[in-house]
Amino acid sequence: GKNWRIGVAGLGTVGGGLLNFLSDRPGFAPAGGQAVVTGVSARSRSRPRPFDISNLAWFDDPVELAKSPDNDIFVELIGGSDGPAKAAVEAALHAGKPVVTANKALIAEHGAELALLAETKGVPLLYEAAVMGGTPAVKVVREAMVGDDIRSISGILNGTCNYILTEMEGMLGQQGPADAFRAVLAEAQRLGYAEADPTMDVGGFDAAHKISILAALAFGCAPNYAAAEIEGIEQVALLDIQLAKDLGYRIKLIASASRSDEGVLVRVHPTLVALNHPLAQAGGALNALFIEGTRIGTIYLQGPGAGAGPTAAAVAADIADLMTGAVRPVFQKPAGQLNPFTPVDPAKS
Ligand code: HSE
Repeated sequence: GKNWRIGVAGLGTVGGGLLNFLSDRPGFAPAGGQAVVTGVSARSRSRPRPFDISNLAWFDDPVELAKSPDNDIFVELIGGSDGPAKAAVEAALHAGKPVVTANKALIAEHGAELALLAETKGVPLLYEAAVMGGTPAVKVVREAMVGDDIRSISGILNGTCNYILTEMEGMLGQQGPADAFRAVLAEAQRLGYAEADPTMDVGGFDAAHKISILAALAFGCAPNYAAAEIEGIEQVALLDIQLAKDLGYRIKLIASASRSDEGVLVRVHPTLVALNHPLAQAGGALNALFIEGTRIGTIYLQGPGAGAGPTAAAVAADIADLMTGAVRPVFQKPAGQLNPFTPVDPAKS
């Protein structure tokens, strides 16, 4: 089989996880040929890392890596909706090179224009790792939508917030540290769950990026992050968690998207979830997703949504799809045929 040369931009949690994954699994050859990382780019070449990059071609500029004829697949793990991540993905697509990204902000905010570019150039743009990390949520929503009309999806899509809320509940009735919130957040950062800027997590923005992507897939439209209603967990106090518990509920940061005749409503906010609901059972840093369709009834999915190992596994799954040639439109339909996204006023829903 053919060997696929991979260029990886971004060597943080997920980039490091991918290099480790591929070096731990030299036999990773989904279509017979091997996947081999040949070039990398990151902010600092000399920063100490728990993996060896000395044998790989180094690029100071991720755009140059993206354009390089010395790799066949460009993997973008830089993050951020604009700046170098977007420039590099565009450069790779312009060069006719398939792209794999874990960048939820990029897909949620610029998905429509990138889909158009990718499809114009006839190359795939895959982003399984952008939502629910190692749990194949993108694939599940895609499949569910093919044979059904999805009515709504709702889930726990930020591991950091779920971890913080779970830990806070564990502190009830105990003498916790003075600044419990900060201590728990620091632990989430140590475990590799949190974003470089944790405001993206605790402010609900990361979950909003992810639900915007799932809404696009569920309803056949382009992602519309600007239309999302967003509230984070910064205002949730131990007393709220205690009162919710006394009433038979648990507070979860729920991201949801629903469709009605009026249009699409996408939102993220702390929500009281009944203790016997599956979404209340997903503790720690787990992610979970509920899909409700007219024919399928309910699908429930739960699994790791963050961390080096699981997220890298999802990136590797996309690389495998490219190697085996299983490719579909970037969203549910070709970019020019996507349904209009009509935002619904939450006050009227
Ligand atoms: N910061 C994200 C989370 C990482 O906590 O879920 C995965 O996207």
